[in-house]
Amino acid sequence: MDFDAQRFRRQFPILGTRNRFDRALIYFDNGATVQVPDCVIEAMAHHLRTHNANVHRGVYGLSEQAEVVYESTRREIAQWVNAREAREIIFNSGTTEGLNFLASQFETLTSEDEIILFIQEHHANILPWQRLRGTIKVVAMTEAGDFDIDDFERKLSKHTKIVSLAHIGNVLGTINPIKQISKMAHGVGAICIVDGAQSLGHGRVDVREMDCDFFATSAHKCFGPMGVGFLYGRASLLEKFKPYHLGGGMVERVAFDRPATFRDIPTCFEAGTPNIVGIAGLGEAIRFLRGIDWPSAQDHGENLKNRALKILQQNPSIEVLKPHNRRFEIISFVHKYAHPHDIASIFDSEGIAVRAGHHCAKPLMKALGVNGTVRLSFAPYNSEEEVEALAAALEKVDRILQKK
Ligand SMILES: Cc1ncc(COP(=O)(O)O)c(C=O)c1O
Repeated sequence: MDFDAQRFRRQFPILGTRNRFDRALIYFDNGATVQVPDCVIEAMAHHLRTHNANVHRGVYGLSEQAEVVYESTRREIAQWVNAREAREIIFNSGTTEGLNFLASQFETLTSEDEIILFIQEHHANILPWQRLRGTIKVVAMTEAGDFDIDDFERKLSKHTKIVSLAHIGNVLGTINPIKQISKMAHGVGAICIVDGAQSLGHGRVDVREMDCDFFATSAHKCFGPMGVGFLYGRASLLEKFKPYHLGGGMVERVAFDRPATFRDIPTCFEAGTPNIVGIAGLGEAIRFLRGIDWPSAQDHGENLKNRALKILQQNPSIEVLKPHNRRFEIISFVHKYAHPHDIASIFDSEGIAVRAGHHCAKPLMKALGVNGTVRLSFAPYNSEEEVEALAAALEKVDRILQKK
C-alpha cells in the first residue's frame, strides 16, 4: 500500500509552522532530531497533569501510578526491540550516556586489549573509548563507503575485547551488517556494541536477530522527547557490571561502617530521579513506532532519497559523497563553490532546514577529504513536494554564490 505522507505529517504540529523567513518549514534534519507527534506531546502533558510523582519511593497512589508508567514503558521497549527480558532495558539520557556507561565498565583494559571501531563513528562512539587504556583499531570503509568486512577480519584477534559501531551511520546513512559483525566479534570472544541512534526511528530493530550485546539509543531520534533514551544489554553481561552513578533508588543497604549493596539490574544503573515525563513520552513514541506501516514508510523514504539524489546529481557543482553505499535516508554532499554553512543558510531562507558541518564525525570527514558536508536526512513525514523544493534552493545557491 502507498504511504500517505500527508496524512502522516498532520500528526506533527511543528510541520505546519513557518520559519523565520516566513517560509513553510521543510524539515530535512531528521538525523539530528526527529519531530514529535501530537500523541507523544499529549502523553507527556497527560503524565504531568495526572501522574506526576517520583518513582521507587512512594507508597501513595500517585507514585505507584508513575511507577506503572515507568515499568510498563520498560516492558514495551523490551518487546519492541525483542529483548529477552524487561530488565535488559536501562533508562538513561540517550545514546551518549549509554556509550559512556559501557566504556566506564572497561577501565581495567590494558594496552594489549583492543577495541575496534568503524571510521564512520560519531564522536559519542569514539571519545568514551579513547579514555580507556585499550588500543583502538579502526576499520576502514570500502571505496563505495561501506564497512570493510575484510579489513575487520584482518583486525580482529584474540586481543579484541570490544567491537563498537553504529547500526546506521549519521553522515552517509551507511547500513552496517551488524549480524555478521557480531558473529565475527563473538568468534574471538569480543562483545558487540551497537550505537542505534539513527536506527530505532526508521523501522523495526531486533536485538536478538542482530545478536548484539548492547544497543544504545535516544528517544529524540524516534519521535520521542530529548534528554531520555535507553540501553539494551544482555542480562548475563549487565549482571557483571558495576553501578555507574551512585545515589538514590539503586541501593539495598547503606551504612557508614560497611560497603553498600545494590539492587538488581536494571535498577542499580538508574540512580537518582529519572526523567519520568520523558519516559512517558518515550513509551508513547514506541507505541507510535509500532503503529507505522514500516515497509511502505521505508519505500516512501527510498523514493524521497532517490529523487533528492537525482536533483543533486543534475547540478555539476555538487558532489554527493559515496552515492552508491548501502545507504539509508541520509545524503551528504559538498559543493564546488559554496561552503556547507552558506548552503544551509541559503536553504534556510527557502524554509529548508538541513545540517551542515562535520556532524560529530571528524575522522570520517578526514577520510572523505572534506571539512564538512551538507546533510539531508528524511523522515516518513517528508513529502515529494518538499524534496522538489531542493531544486529551486540549489538554483538560489548557484545564483548567489557563483554570481551567475
Ligand atoms: C550515530 C550517532 N551516535 C550518537 C549520537 C548521539 O546521540 P545523543 O546526542 O542523542 O546522545 C548521534 C546523534 O546525532 C548519532 O547520530
